[in-house]
Amino acid sequence: MNNISKDYKENPVGKSPSLSQVEMTELVLPNDTNLLGNLLGGRLMHWIDIAGAMAASRHSNRIVATVALDSLDFRHPARMGELVMLKAKLTWVGKTSMEVKVTAYAENLKTGSVILTNQAYITFVALDSEGKPTPVPPLILETEEEKREFEEAEARRAERLKRKEKG
Ligand SMILES: CC(C)(COP(=O)(O)OP(=O)(O)OC[C@H]1O[C@@H](n2cnc3c(N)ncnc32)[C@H](O)[C@@H]1OP(=O)(O)O)[C@@H](O)C(=O)NCCC(=O)NCCS
Repeated sequence: MNNISKDYKENPVGKSPSLSQVEMTELVLPNDTNLLGNLLGGRLMHWIDIAGAMAASRHSNRIVATVALDSLDFRHPARMGELVMLKAKLTWVGKTSMEVKVTAYAENLKTGSVILTNQAYITFVALDSEGKPTPVPPLILETEEEKREFEEAEARRAERLKRKEKG
């Protein structure tokens, strides 16, 4: 049986993560790079935020605001002339907030090699027309990996809220 999140009664129309997932591809141009020809961290963070926001908006059919970005590791540089592919997929939803996992890969067009460069978990809040948090549809988990991600997301959320309380 499918797993559904706790707000099912309030908002019975659930959606699977695959329905809202986003794939976005960018070409690393000279203006995106530092003096070594590597993709600027800030530009990558912007793309990660955009890809995540598109997935969260697709799930909620609302405008969304970013409220938290977990630590972002730079595992491998993307170089000028390479493609950066970003995959964004919902991992968790609460009442008005959603966690999205964004994974970034660099593809070398000359060799065809694809390398995982970054991974981030971002939390978005769905907003109504007055800019107030508004309920989102539950998440229908279809795969074992989605169920595992959802459980792990609950622990990440608890940590984030602890951090927020500490100010
Ligand atoms: C988004 C915003 C309107 C929400 O207002 P708020 O007073 O925090 O609202 P709430 O306390 O009701 O929280 C709304 C949801 O966000 C979650 N949330 C808020 N801060 C969070 C954080 N730091 N980490 C994780 N979740 C968070 C809450 O737990 C709640 O989730 P739930 O409804 O699923 O249970 C407000 O925080 C805001 O305007 N933030 C700035 C957003 C911004 O400028 N982003 C950058 C540009 S998009």
